[in-house]
Amino acid sequence: MITSGGLLRADSPPHLPISDLAMDTPQPTTASPRRAIVIGASSGIGAALVEALAAEGASVGAVARRAGLLDELSAAGGHILTRSHDVRDSAAVPELFEELVRELGGLDLLIFAAALMPAVERDEYNTEKDLAMLAVNVGGAIAWCNEAAGFFKSQRRGHIVGISSIAADRGRKGAPVYGATKAALDHYLEALRNRLSEANVSVTTIKPGFVATDMTAGMGKLPFIISAPSAARRILSAVRQGAETRYVPLRWWLVGRALGLVPSFIFKRLNV
Ligand SMILES: NC(=O)c1ccc[n+]([C@@H]2O[C@H](COP(=O)([O-])OP(=O)(O)OC[C@H]3O[C@@H](n4cnc5c(N)ncnc54)[C@H](OP(=O)(O)O)[C@@H]3O)[C@@H](O)[C@H]2O)c1
Repeated sequence: MITSGGLLRADSPPHLPISDLAMDTPQPTTASPRRAIVIGASSGIGAALVEALAAEGASVGAVARRAGLLDELSAAGGHILTRSHDVRDSAAVPELFEELVRELGGLDLLIFAAALMPAVERDEYNTEKDLAMLAVNVGGAIAWCNEAAGFFKSQRRGHIVGISSIAADRGRKGAPVYGATKAALDHYLEALRNRLSEANVSVTTIKPGFVATDMTAGMGKLPFIISAPSAARRILSAVRQGAETRYVPLRWWLVGRALGLVPSFIFKRLNV
């Protein structure tokens, strides 16, 4: 590992492009990431991703605020480095990224899974709450993915994954700003993918439906809900296949297409 002008550079083995599902456009990708960083790793989908990657033999950097939960994750086994960090502290990201990449001995994959989705009442217009979501879900993603983009571009290999949501696809009454943050993430990740394609770097947008985590706790019975380990398996499969955008599970792609066809005057009346 050497550094040049503050930018980490790394040597690593060639990636293995593999086939993809028909609905996704394949990209060059790392078939089996050996070194990964997961942001938002202390619970839910992020924690399940860390466990799945570690079980596959990868060295994983696990980042979130709750250090106790991260410690439990690393105590469960595998090569897991933990860092307590608040993604709103974007100024701390370059140094933390560099430190983790050094300790991991390089980097193949960065997954940004952190997000906030506080309960919002139908008649609530709370700017403080809304801007907090913007800072974590969008600001945090930009700070970490920008850092990974520069590094992967320099080594001409790597994979960035952002966990978006089906909530990005339409403006829903229930979560105006959460959905807007995910739509912004979709747009940003698409632009990164287009920018980095010439540098042999892949960018995957994951759009989960409902997953049983802290985020959905107390929401009652939700359709097609899956467990966090099941979501993690599907996400890592999308990574191996080099998917550009992947609905998790895949059936949400059909739901998304159907909802996209609903005209505005009808969507307005739906209680979603
Ligand atoms: N669950 C679902 O049904 C569902 C559906 C669609 C999309 N998603 C997306 O999936 C991703 C994972 O969510 P989840 O369901 O697994 O929820 P979760 O269990 O609440 O996990 C959220 C993660 O984000 C981290 N986080 C939140 N604020 C942070 C901050 N300021 N700094 C650093 N880390 C922060 C949390 O860690 P700390 O609190 O320890 O910092 C936690 O690790 C999110 O992007 C979410 O939007 C979830």
